Amino acid sequence: MRMNRRRFLQAAAISGAASLVPLYLSRDVFAGYAAKDFNAPLAIPPELKGRTVGGKRVYDMTLQRGSMQFFEGLDTPTAGINGNYLGPVIRARRGESALFNVKNQLGEPSTIHWHGLHLPARMDGGPHQTIAPGQTWRPEFDINQPASTQWYHSHMYHRTGVQVYYGLAGLFYIDDEHSQNMDLPDQYGVNDIPLVIQDRRFKRDGSFHYISGMRDQMLGVLGNDILVNGVVRPKYEVRQKQMRFRILNGSNARSYNLEFSDQREFVQIASDGGLLEKAVRMRQLHVSPGERAEIVVQFENNEDVMLQHKPLPENKRARGMMAMMMSGNDRPFNVMRFTSHDPQGEVVKIPARLATIPVWSVADAAVTRRFDLDMQMMGMGMMGGGGNGGGFSINNKSYELERIDTVVRLNDIEIWEFTNNSPMPHPMHIHDIQFRILDRNGKLPPLNERGLKDTVLVNADETVRVITKFENYADENSPYMYHCHILEHEDRGMMGQFVVKA
Ligand code: C2O
Ligand code: CU
Ligand code: CU
Repeated sequence: MRMNRRRFLQAAAISGAASLVPLYLSRDVFAGYAAKDFNAPLAIPPELKGRTVGGKRVYDMTLQRGSMQFFEGLDTPTAGINGNYLGPVIRARRGESALFNVKNQLGEPSTIHWHGLHLPARMDGGPHQTIAPGQTWRPEFDINQPASTQWYHSHMYHRTGVQVYYGLAGLFYIDDEHSQNMDLPDQYGVNDIPLVIQDRRFKRDGSFHYISGMRDQMLGVLGNDILVNGVVRPKYEVRQKQMRFRILNGSNARSYNLEFSDQREFVQIASDGGLLEKAVRMRQLHVSPGERAEIVVQFENNEDVMLQHKPLPENKRARGMMAMMMSGNDRPFNVMRFTSHDPQGEVVKIPARLATIPVWSVADAAVTRRFDLDMQMMGMGMMGGGGNGGGFSINNKSYELERIDTVVRLNDIEIWEFTNNSPMPHPMHIHDIQFRILDRNGKLPPLNERGLKDTVLVNADETVRVITKFENYADENSPYMYHCHILEHEDRGMMGQFVVKA
């Protein structure tokens, strides 16, 4: 049974009552922290470059528990990779072979999925590649795609949301000659800076508060504090006039519509799959969970500017009650602060043409597959009634580990058409490939969505068509996932599996 308005109101009322308890350290993100409150130095994650052994690049990663003081004097139990919270930026080069030793010291099963990477399904790190506590998983694959900002994170069956929330995620940069020969800022930590944006909710004792009720299961878990690279209310002191920021929305459920407080123009140079064909000038950038964007921004002397979330026009992203719950409640908030004192370096002109991107034509598509996205009622409760099994579906089916939903033929070009029948947006992600967006409700996507993508936001009442080619890797026995990247939706069944057949 689909969710109707009355049922939704009942559920919202119940969950609303529960959230009146003053349980949290901070009020919601709209509480309005001012620029002066943003003083914590932004952390820059370490790079992990690996070592060369027998012609391969070998990376050692340990999944471990840790502790962080996000707030002074308060210890937050966390998880991380080679550290307390989040993980290093893995650096790999196109053309290299990579081998990972992923050691699980968490005391519970986990996985590490390479989001955005094109690799054999057995190496993908989805729910089928569980690493038991104390074990080491050794995936091996070739780096076989253009320079880009990818990432890795837990993809544990039913526990992706909570494991990522605690910190099991990190960035994965692919470098190549083409991008290094372009005149783009590329000095890590100097003029090329990662920004992993997340939101978290903290209990008064400092510990994370993950799911607190039906509202969290429905909307996904929305935090009261915004973190960038694991820092609450950070400030970054810009030292170069021309900066490149690699933005990952690493949040479980929250989307950001980013804008600088002075509405300055910036240039987007890359999307999920790498450089855009042409750089796009813009003043606002929308990133939904799982999406990446690289932007180049200029700074002058003595600046003090905020990066903010700017609400979208009412009802643009959701409809009905959901719109009220989401956008009605959607006001601007600050994400982070940038200051500058005598920045150095040159401002170079961004090349007009950045990359050549495969063009797959609709006429060459072997098939169009339709995927209907729904939120459903389960018995009395909503969204699974407390269980993990149901609530969200693709083509009326909830995810099952042992069911293959889609079989793709190797080297076929396919169109995947996502139709969102539910009242809220879903960022849809496909493993294995990068796609191009053909259209949104029949209209061409905006310029910055015309490059390679692996995650696309499908708004309420929207149909989005994407096109791609399934190349190189076939394995009838190992599936890849496709799913909503709101992790609470994924964990509650909004996921399917496909295999590529030779
Ligand atoms: Cu970012 Cu299936 O994952
Ligand atoms: Cu993925
Ligand atoms: Cu969703």
